[in-house]
Amino acid sequence: MQIERVGVVGCGLMGSGIAEVAAKSGFDVRVREVNDAALEAGQKRIRKSMDRAVDKEKLSAEDRDAAWARLSFTTTVADLADCDLVIEAIVEELDAKNDLFGELDGLCGEGTIFASNTSSLTITDMAAATERPDRFVGLHFFNPVPVMKLVEVVKTIATSDETFERAFAFSKALGKTPIAAKDNSGFVVNLLLVPYMLDAIRQLERGVASIEDIDTGMMLGCGYPMGPFTLCDFVGIDTLYKISEIMYDEYREERYAPPPLLKRIVSLGRFGRKTGKGFYDWSGEQPTPLAI
Ligand code: CAA
Ligand code: NAD
Repeated sequence: MQIERVGVVGCGLMGSGIAEVAAKSGFDVRVREVNDAALEAGQKRIRKSMDRAVDKEKLSAEDRDAAWARLSFTTTVADLADCDLVIEAIVEELDAKNDLFGELDGLCGEGTIFASNTSSLTITDMAAATERPDRFVGLHFFNPVPVMKLVEVVKTIATSDETFERAFAFSKALGKTPIAAKDNSGFVVNLLLVPYMLDAIRQLERGVASIEDIDTGMMLGCGYPMGPFTLCDFVGIDTLYKISEIMYDEYREERYAPPPLLKRIVSLGRFGRKTGKGFYDWSGEQPTPLAI
């Protein structure tokens, strides 16, 4: 069965990017958010990103308009009932994801594949709460989705070969490069990337250098496109904290444990670039490091 209609649940940083890329690739996309304000914010994010691609002559105005016309927006979960594939990109909390998948399981047809974009939860823990663990897969995209080429396609021990192959082919149809990953918390990339970001915070706590100098060090010394603190702000401090808690709970290894400073920044509501402040203040022309 062909995938034609794609549901995307959650239109934050990741869901908006996934919806944009799917619509630009010719899929009919339904986007669901929790309320009108969140839906409007997500819609604006997609539009801004598409307009930017037109300004940079990476997308023609006609293709943008055609992609935009393939998108529809809703706050009603039942509107995703006839999708061939539903990709979840909501908050990194198992209970919230399982509530959503439980509801979708009762609404969607037998043929609908469920996918999660989780960073650190296992796909099995979500699939097991539905009646379709064989039609459940991980599709882990990278931020910013329109730019980053990778998708980790995650097969659990219950995922059918057919489901995995369809999800893999779908990732290619989006113009991405998929890699196959096993269902362990953090898959491939976050197993290595998350300890790196957390380590940078630990070194900052130890006072080895300033936020700016650590970022500059990793950019100019290692050729990374952004330093670890810019990356933390980019991913979202709240999301990084949840990822760290989940991975620490899974592995009980110190390298995944959330550093106290990360927790303090979350308590202050400084969730990174998306809220204007994280390790940096993003309100001006250039990000300025905040006092730690
Ligand atoms: N949406 C759409 N396009 C964007 C974008 C966004 N949010 N941000 C940048 N771009 C595009 C720009 O339009 C630009 O395209 P052109 O080539 O047409 O100019 C291109 O990306 C490069 O952008 P810039 O020149 O403005 O900036 P840059 O050279 O500094 O690159 C970047 C920006 C691509 C984000 C680069 O800094 C980078 O690769 N950073 C690292 C990103 C990364 O590591 N992501 C993974 C995060 S971890 C994760 O996603 C997993 C998880 O589970 C947490
Ligand atoms: P975000 O905070 O930017 O967006 C989450 C969105 O989900 C919010 O807009 C919220 O209103 C919405 N939401 C919450 N519950 C919902 C529900 N029941 N139905 C519909 N919408 C709901 O978060 P994000 O950064 O986009 O992360 C989303 C998921 O993607 C998480 O699982 C995260 O771990 C994963 N992820 C994040 C990144 C990253 O760099 N931020 C990268 C890869 C994967």
